[in-house]
Amino acid sequence: MSSSSPSTSPSIVSSRAPGKIILSGEQFVVLGAPAVAMAVNLYSKIEVRPSQSGRIEVTADIPLHLVGDADKGSLVGENRELLEPLRLAASATLDHLAMRDRGVHVEANCQIPSGAGLGSSASTTVATISAVAKSRRARLNREDIFKLAFIPENYLHGHPSGVDQATCIYGGIIQFKKPSKIKAITVKRPPTILVCDSGAHRSTKALVGAVVKRSQEQTDGFQSHLDEITSISNAVVKALRKEDDNELGRLMNRNHEMLRQIGVSTPDLDRLVAEALQAGALGAKLTGAGGGGCIIALCADKKDRSNIARKLRNAGGTIYNVSLDASGVK
Ligand code: PMV
Repeated sequence: MSSSSPSTSPSIVSSRAPGKIILSGEQFVVLGAPAVAMAVNLYSKIEVRPSQSGRIEVTADIPLHLVGDADKGSLVGENRELLEPLRLAASATLDHLAMRDRGVHVEANCQIPSGAGLGSSASTTVATISAVAKSRRARLNREDIFKLAFIPENYLHGHPSGVDQATCIYGGIIQFKKPSKIKAITVKRPPTILVCDSGAHRSTKALVGAVVKRSQEQTDGFQSHLDEITSISNAVVKALRKEDDNELGRLMNRNHEMLRQIGVSTPDLDRLVAEALQAGALGAKLTGAGGGGCIIALCADKKDRSNIARKLRNAGGTIYNVSLDASGVK
């Protein structure tokens, strides 16, 4: 117990939040179409204790990856971009709670690779908001956490739809539509998903910004994409409820093709998608903003998933055998 901590504040508290994958609708969700996303059992854990300085302090232990231009060799773990969202999340929470005492030390520990499309930033910011509130003996409801998370997410992304933070907060599978329509999708059997990381990590902000710009230049083309992705996301929900994996796989394949058409896939992601399908996946697509990061593959069962994982590992990918996180931030 820290003797300097105020008697009303616990000395150390923690929260954790899951990562996420997007089954359908990324990028298009920023333009107003619905997306379907699933929380997965890769976690970020945030500990909050009183700070010595009386100010907000942030330290992080997050998997280090080369970002952007590999020649520059910039490591995310040394990047201010990574810590600033957490500081903003803590600050926004203290403002919301009208706390004048700003003395919190936020320590982030994250299993989710950053810049890979698995929601590392949303997961860490959501867990930070929850833990900072706990450190002040306050409990925020999910709607408040959702609203507060836009402050760090805006800083990082420029145009966040809200789907990432919604999934990390609510857990399970959700259908999401801007600005804040969140529908929990209850399934008897979650899909068997394999995540394969291409190893090329990138900035969501730049990718989303380019798609938004293109959508403003090609309004007609994008309107038909938005209509189609709306049907796809609605059909994904039906397929999940009916446990129709063949249909879900078909929809994922079509969604990947659309992401290719708007220019956010890469030859490497296309190659991993093709390898997964050849190895027996029922469907495969990139997940997240694209430009690198991860693909997801739908597998008939766990045995098939092992075979597909072996092939993708041989093709140079890093595998995460994820399962559904049902609880969200806690
Ligand atoms: O940050 P990522 O790569 O997990 O992408 C999130 C999904 C996007 O649709 C690309 C952005 C958003 O805010 O919806």
